[in-house]
Amino acid sequence: MRLDKLLSNMGFGSRKEVRLLLKKGVVRLNNEVIKDVSKHIEIDSDHVTVLGEPVVYKEFVYLMMNKPQGVISATEDRHDRTVVDLLDEEFTNFEPFPVGRLDKDTEGFLLLTNDGKLAHNLLSPKKEVAKTYYAHIDGVVTETDVMDFSQGVVLDDGYLTKPGQLEVLKSATLSEIELTITEGKFHQVKRMFEAVGKKVVYLKRISMGDLPLDEHLTLGSYRELTDEELLLLKNSTL
Ligand code: URA
Repeated sequence: MRLDKLLSNMGFGSRKEVRLLLKKGVVRLNNEVIKDVSKHIEIDSDHVTVLGEPVVYKEFVYLMMNKPQGVISATEDRHDRTVVDLLDEEFTNFEPFPVGRLDKDTEGFLLLTNDGKLAHNLLSPKKEVAKTYYAHIDGVVTETDVMDFSQGVVLDDGYLTKPGQLEVLKSATLSEIELTITEGKFHQVKRMFEAVGKKVVYLKRISMGDLPLDEHLTLGSYRELTDEELLLLKNSTL
């Protein structure tokens, strides 16, 4: 990997900032001052220091984002801003991608990572990783809906969903609910409510596996997972 990419990935600033750092002579490769940004580094054997501190290479990045409405869960899009457009260069250098999709008008917990194996496990239908959503529903959500969801409902294409755990927080003409499901069909939550004659008017994912969304994250902001959080997420796929 190029030295500037390595240092940028490890949080030493943009490629431009890294270039300035090298110019100052504070970066050493195997104990020799190095100024060539394009130098190829062998991750396993070369020893890089900045101001005398060793640079420990990290391969993966794991980001929890509170996705806002209006952005697309993709890495690129011709018309709209994507969740990746919201990330700093420090993170885009890792080439993260969103794990699964939230609709353009859905908010909440979106994981972005470059760890393909974890992404695969979290999305695999076999793993049945739980996802919990908070929603506002146009219509009175009843105990009958709770029962129906607990047995699975038939979507518009004839698919019988796996059981969903529906909790009614407020039953009124505009209801509030939490729904936990273990699969991720296209527009699944919206279509499950359509199956019982109701409409989702606001949708937010509040957890994935055993990991809840950090409510301190404002819409559009994100942060790296802690080691404990990553472990929780990985354990959810076992
Ligand atoms: N279900 C939906 O209908 N939309 C989402 O964004 C996520 C789950």
